[in-house]
Amino acid sequence: MTTMSLFITLEGGEGCGKSAQARILSKRLAQLAIPFLLTQEPGGTALGARLRRWLKWTQNETFSPLSELLLFNAARAQLVTEVIQPGLDSGNIVICDRYTDSTIAYQGYGRGLESALVKTINDAATGGLKPDLTVLLDLPAEEGLARKKARRRDRFEHESIAFHRRVRQGYLKLASAEPERWLVIDATQSKDKIAQIIWHKVSQLLASRGKTEFKAAEA
Ligand code: TYD
Repeated sequence: MTTMSLFITLEGGEGCGKSAQARILSKRLAQLAIPFLLTQEPGGTALGARLRRWLKWTQNETFSPLSELLLFNAARAQLVTEVIQPGLDSGNIVICDRYTDSTIAYQGYGRGLESALVKTINDAATGGLKPDLTVLLDLPAEEGLARKKARRRDRFEHESIAFHRRVRQGYLKLASAEPERWLVIDATQSKDKIAQIIWHKVSQLLASRGKTEFKAAEA
């Protein structure tokens, strides 16, 4: 990994706005001509796109929590090998919309699989590759789901409010256990405000990696 590469993940429950923030951050990097890659989980590869459809839209069939854990990680293994690791190796900033913490929150806290098992499988899929920064867009479960109401709901959005509350609490526990990696943002704030908080942190990280000109970009 070169020193300039940076691995940033975005996390949060349904309707928290992370995909919009991933796009805003990408735009800013593009404007500054900083090389980056934007990808998402599940997805980002041909295999991942197929698994994404299965995982989100399979109907009238119940996946066991363990199958779900393995399928998300099958998509992830492919994404790390094909996109994320090569992207970092060639000096890009890699932004990933969801990563291993989603699995701990959803399959661990949400579905009730043991955290140690989830971590073992996640590690096998990623080869231990960890984000430098993980942004949590924190939102009460009811609010996130309400934002989704108008749209077509996928398998996860059909889960109970109790499920989504466990996911949120799971994320908050992960963040407080590893505060140096996480940036927790109150996602009830405006889109612009959230983008500003994220950029403040990212530009600091870039500056600390020797790109002093980003201090100016931050102002
Ligand atoms: P996606 O459309 O990416 O999420 P969102 O609608 O919040 O932007 O859908 C991915 C769904 O898959 C989402 O409900 C969370 C779930 N998920 C898991 O349960 N485990 C995982 O490891 C990942 C990556 C996602």
